[in-house]
Amino acid sequence: MKADLIVGVQWGDEGKGKIVDMLAQKYDMVCRSQGGHNAGHTIWVDGVRYALHLIPSGVLNPEAINIIGNGVVLSPESIIKEMEQFENLEGKLYISDKAHLNLPHHALIDQAKERLKGDKAIGTTGKGIGPAYSDKINRVGFRVGELLDTVKLQNSILDYFEQNRAIFDVLEIDTPSADELVNLLNDYKTKLAPFITNTTNMVWDALDNNKKVLLEGAQGTLLDIDHGTYPYVTSSSTVSAGACTGLGINPKDIGKVTGIVKAYCTRVGNGPFPSEDLGEDGERLGKQGHEFGTTTGRARRCGWFDAVACRYSSRLNGCDDLSLMKLDVLDGFDEIKVCVAYILDGKEIDYMPSDLESVTPVYKSFKGWEKTEGIRNWDELPETAKIYVKALETLTKTKIGMISTSPERKDTILL
Ligand code: GDP
Ligand code: IMO
Ligand code: MG
Repeated sequence: MKADLIVGVQWGDEGKGKIVDMLAQKYDMVCRSQGGHNAGHTIWVDGVRYALHLIPSGVLNPEAINIIGNGVVLSPESIIKEMEQFENLEGKLYISDKAHLNLPHHALIDQAKERLKGDKAIGTTGKGIGPAYSDKINRVGFRVGELLDTVKLQNSILDYFEQNRAIFDVLEIDTPSADELVNLLNDYKTKLAPFITNTTNMVWDALDNNKKVLLEGAQGTLLDIDHGTYPYVTSSSTVSAGACTGLGINPKDIGKVTGIVKAYCTRVGNGPFPSEDLGEDGERLGKQGHEFGTTTGRARRCGWFDAVACRYSSRLNGCDDLSLMKLDVLDGFDEIKVCVAYILDGKEIDYMPSDLESVTPVYKSFKGWEKTEGIRNWDELPETAKIYVKALETLTKTKIGMISTSPERKDTILL
C-alpha cells in the first residue's frame, strides 16, 4: 500500500499537528522524515493541549506506531523531555539509527552565529538545526545508532571538539569535559536505546504488508532549503520529495499528498513575506489566531492568504488537495484580502520568482462574514465564506478537501 503525506505549504505552523492527529486514528504508522525540535505541532483533544516537537503526532492514537526517520536531526535531551508526557512508549515509538544527533553544542553554535549576524540574522529557533545538518552534510556528524556504544562515541566527539577547538574558542563556547560527556551519553543511551532501530526496514515492512502509513511533514514548503526563501529557510527538505530520502522510501511509495494551509498567512523569523500586514488587520489576525510560536513563544508575523505562493507550493509537492485551516480566525472581518499576483520590476507576474525579496503584492478583496467557528458542515457556512473557499480553490488550482474551524479534532468540515 502507498503512504499518504501531509505537508505544510506556507511558512510552517499551518495546523499540521491537528490534521495528522485526526487522520492518525485511521493509520497504523505515522512517520516524521525531516526537521527536528524546531517543529512545534499542537494538538487539542477534549480541551487538553499537547505540544509535540519530535514525537510524531500519531502518538495520541493508541494503535499507531510512530517512526522518527533517518532524515531527522534528533536532540536526545528534547525527546527525553517530550517522552515524559506519555506513559511507556516502548513498542509505540521507534527512532532511526541513521538519524543524526543534534547535541547541546549545536544549539550553542546556532545561537552564537545568529548573534554575530546582527540584523541579518535568520531568526532561527536557536535549536541547533542548521549546525546539526551542516555536520551531517560535512560528513562529521554523529548518528543516533552510535549512542549504543558510548565509549566509542565519547572518543569520537572529543576528537571532533579538538578539531573544531578554534571555532569553539572564537564563539566562546565551552565544550563538556570527558567525564561530563560520558555521563550525558550514558543517560541518553539508558533512556533511548530501547527505541533505536533500523526504521527503513520497518517502514518497508508496513508498506509491503498493506499497513496504512502516514508521513507527517514539519516546517513548510516556503522554508525548504532549496525551494524556500533562501537564506531565510530551515536546513532540511521540507517538500514532499524530502520524505523519500528522510525515510528511505521511493517516490512510487507515496500515494495521496495533502497540503496544509491557513486561510491567511503567518511567518516566524526573518525573510520576505509579501502579503504581511503590518497594520491593524495583521495585529487582529495575530490576536484572533493566537499566533505565538509553539516552540519559541515568539509572535508570528501575520498577513493575507498568498495564492501565488500556495499555487507554487501545491505544484512543488504534488498536492492532491488542501486542508484549509483556521477559517474561523477570519470571522468578523468586513473585508478579506488575497494576494493574487506580484509586481516585480514594474511588471505584474503570476508565478513565484526565485527571489521574493523585491516583489509587492496585488490583492483581490472578498466580503467577510460573521461566524464560522465550530461549524462542521459545508451547508452551514455563511455564503460569503463559501465564495472565499471556492475562490482559493480556483486561485491555487487545487481542490480543498477539508476545512478546519477550531483547534479541536471534531470541528472540521470534510468535503
Ligand atoms: P503545526 O506546526 O503546523 O502543527 O501548527 P502549530 O501547532 O504550530 O500552530 C497551529 C495553531 O493553530 C495551533 O495552536 C492549533 O491548535 C491551532 N489550530 C489548528 N487548527 C485551527 C483552526 O481551525 N482554528 C483555530 N482557531 N485554531 C487552529
Ligand atoms: P512547524 O513544524 C514555523 C523557521 C524559524 C526560522 C527558520 C530557520 O511547527 O511548522 P531553524 O531553527 O529551523 O534553523 O530556523 O525556520 N521555522 C519554523 N517556522 N514553524 C516551524 O515548524 C518552523 N521550524 C523552523 O522560525 O525562520
Ligand atoms: Mg508549529
